[in-house]
Amino acid sequence: MSADYPSMTTAEIRSKFLNFFEERGLKLYPSSSLVPDDPSLLLANAGMNQFKEYYQGKKTMKEIGAISCQKCVRTNDIDCIGEDGRHLSFFEMLGDFSFGGVSKQQACAWAFELITKEFKLPLDRLYFTVFTEDDETHDVWRSLGVAEDHISRLGEDDNFWAAGPTGPCGPCSEIYFDMGEEVGCGSPDCKPGCDCDRFLEFWNLVFTQYDRQEDGSMPELPHRNLDTGMGLERMAAIMQHKTANYDGDLMQHLIKLGEEISGKTYDADDYSGASRSLRIIADHSRAVDFMISDGILPGNEGREYVLRRLLRRAVFHGRLLGIEGAFLTKFIDEVNAQMGEAYPELLKNVALVKGIVASEEERFSTTLDNGRVYLDEALAALAEGAVLPGDVAFKLHDTFGFPIDLTVEIAGAAGHDVDMDGFTACMEDQKARARANAKGDAWGSFNDVWVELSDKVASTEFD
Ligand code: SER
Repeated sequence: MSADYPSMTTAEIRSKFLNFFEERGLKLYPSSSLVPDDPSLLLANAGMNQFKEYYQGKKTMKEIGAISCQKCVRTNDIDCIGEDGRHLSFFEMLGDFSFGGVSKQQACAWAFELITKEFKLPLDRLYFTVFTEDDETHDVWRSLGVAEDHISRLGEDDNFWAAGPTGPCGPCSEIYFDMGEEVGCGSPDCKPGCDCDRFLEFWNLVFTQYDRQEDGSMPELPHRNLDTGMGLERMAAIMQHKTANYDGDLMQHLIKLGEEISGKTYDADDYSGASRSLRIIADHSRAVDFMISDGILPGNEGREYVLRRLLRRAVFHGRLLGIEGAFLTKFIDEVNAQMGEAYPELLKNVALVKGIVASEEERFSTTLDNGRVYLDEALAALAEGAVLPGDVAFKLHDTFGFPIDLTVEIAGAAGHDVDMDGFTACMEDQKARARANAKGDAWGSFNDVWVELSDKVASTEFD
């Protein structure tokens, strides 16, 4: 397998991608805000979000298509972050998009030219997947010179893409890079789509042709569209001969800062302990910086809660690393130093972001200090490997405002599971008691409001 291809920085990859498509007549759009102009989405999660109305034929553009480098936040896997080399909450996605102006053949030919001629990735390390019944795309890759045993067919879970429950969607074709047998699972069935680290998907070409409705029906869109997304951190890892997203240049600056502040050492092969915490802080501090710059403030619901959770998780992992005192604004400075040129909004909003980060960090530190004393005592009283009772986790949540996910994390680090069924039962009991009390007494209407609110929002924390 070929090992020799050139190295490239993240900034070089970003500009090479965008220049390539600009030269071919596609129009460069700046990234849209992380706060989408679309009630069906919590946060911008793909380059295509800002073009939804072009897909639906409600808007048109005179150019044959568009390109962007989009800020994205994906929240479904926050708990996995740091435990593998792939998951990120914030990432940049390079993409080319077209609304009837670029054919599937052309889109695949450009993708192939860019990765083999410009990025000079060796063909014997490139693999392609197509949607089960998509013979057309299979034949396009074959005509471009891809060997039959480098193309596989995957079903709806892998090769059908939608931004959310409704809206433009369609079958897709993914491009993978073979990171080498040594990082794989060794199974004879290992191939693109396998959960191991060997085949890294770095570019997804979606042939957006349906508009999924609330009732699940999928009428055809007015055009055969195109929506591609190349994960920039993944491409940086590939182009810098690394195996993980965290080991490319931009993420490494943040990991190094974490090492300096904490005195701990990062090990790229270790997915636990200090290395995991260093990854989490590097990832979450980027998300926090970009989210606040786009106007999101920490809170208890929706995207505000996502921000609060990421910010607090970063602070908490600082504690796990033994960092004393506030530290998160130093990461904001480093993110800005690395990314401020590509995203000027970071530099424009730096005072606001740092002020909010500092005050949320301080508030949460107080919460942590108070709850931590109680939790540590409870953990110390447990036998080795015993489960932390649900009522203890509930008291932490209810009285100390200590988030349940942190209780789980701290207990886990000390070798204890948390009785989550017991915790949920306590939560339900509390609501049931409030409901019962509400019946027939003078406080009835007050309690009704409380029960309704407590069903909707997270617990309130009193400082
Ligand atoms: N929207 C697709 C994705 O996010 C391709 O851009 O993977």
